[in-house]
Amino acid sequence: MAQTTETSAPSATHANWRTPSVTSRLPRVGTTIFTTMSALAAEHHAVNLGQGFPDFDCDPRLVDLVSDAMRRGLNQYPPMIGVPALREAVAQKLQRLYTHEVNPQTEITITAGATQAIITAILALVDAGDEVIVLDPCYDCYDPSIVLAGGTAVHVPLKPGTFRPDFARIAAALSPRTRALIINSPHNPSATTWSAQDMQSLTELLRPTDVVMISDEVYEHMVFDGQRHESAARYPELAARSVIVSSFGKTYHVTGWKVGFVAAPAALTTEFRKVHQFNVFTVNTPVQHALAVYMQDAQPYLDLPSFYQRKRDLFRAGLAQTRFRLLPSEGSYFQCVDYSAISDATEADFCRWLTTDIVVAAIPLSAFYERPFEQKLARFCFAKKDETLELALLRLAAL
Ligand SMILES: Cc1ncc(COP(=O)(O)O)c(C=O)c1O
Repeated sequence: MAQTTETSAPSATHANWRTPSVTSRLPRVGTTIFTTMSALAAEHHAVNLGQGFPDFDCDPRLVDLVSDAMRRGLNQYPPMIGVPALREAVAQKLQRLYTHEVNPQTEITITAGATQAIITAILALVDAGDEVIVLDPCYDCYDPSIVLAGGTAVHVPLKPGTFRPDFARIAAALSPRTRALIINSPHNPSATTWSAQDMQSLTELLRPTDVVMISDEVYEHMVFDGQRHESAARYPELAARSVIVSSFGKTYHVTGWKVGFVAAPAALTTEFRKVHQFNVFTVNTPVQHALAVYMQDAQPYLDLPSFYQRKRDLFRAGLAQTRFRLLPSEGSYFQCVDYSAISDATEADFCRWLTTDIVVAAIPLSAFYERPFEQKLARFCFAKKDETLELALLRLAAL
């Protein structure tokens, strides 16, 4: 009789399943305030002026162009660096608007939105131990991208009250370990813009250094009151050390399409593309073809300042009837308000109350700082239909 033994491997029962423990590479990252506030807004059916995205549609022609591209069979991998016609269109725009000559073959890369562009630039250019200066308050992807690269984010505050760059403090933060500086104009969350003088001061400050500048210009076409956007592309000396990042999502009201671009000198672009090809490889083909055709007409982005300025003015006129104190909104699609005449609550508590009780969602400015910093400021997004803004204003009128 054959002997039976118990030598077979233990059966894979549920009890044996094991998920390895992990040490978080981003221990300080949790659920963002944007997710929290959007969830709260949905739960309370609040008008969501918190997260920054339009609640209106893009130009239907753009949707048709994407459909056409799909029907024409443009559905497979495009070139890793982006569809040539789109890179060409971006180069023409940089030339037309900022008199910046770039070679679309060696200096423009199409990305999966600005967020992917920023992390890719940081992973490509920042080494372990390097320092990267960021100016607080700032968009939330900068810090974790620096941490993932093994770098250290050195947070330098913009001037409290005005959110203008403090060049003395930036100068003091520069060290032999500084590899990069990230700037963002028009600025999220403060809606300020950098002036020509600011760009000049920055040029002089960086002149003796080897610091790379990452210039986050996703709101480049939203600058108001006849001002011009001071792109790094306008300043040849700065452009020579800059990775300029923009987002078609912001410009064409299609934040969910996640397409952007990077313009950088060839030497920086070469390194950028080495990382780009292994973290995203290529970007949505039909959307790139559609954007290339759509960009032949400059009018949609040339019209954007007046389009958003009208919304800003509508929103500000309504807010002026409340006890909010309005901060300037020079660019972007944000409006910050000081609520100190209304409440003593912390920014997070005030925004929660505004969402649950007044039923309008906003974002606390403190969410954009490395360390909690309370100024009694909240940020509204006015990239909304007029009727959305009017409904919000009706509710805010009680304040
Ligand atoms: C300052 C800033 N940079 C980058 C981004 C990300 O842009 P994208 O959606 O193209 O990744 C945003 C989006 O809100 C932003 O406000």
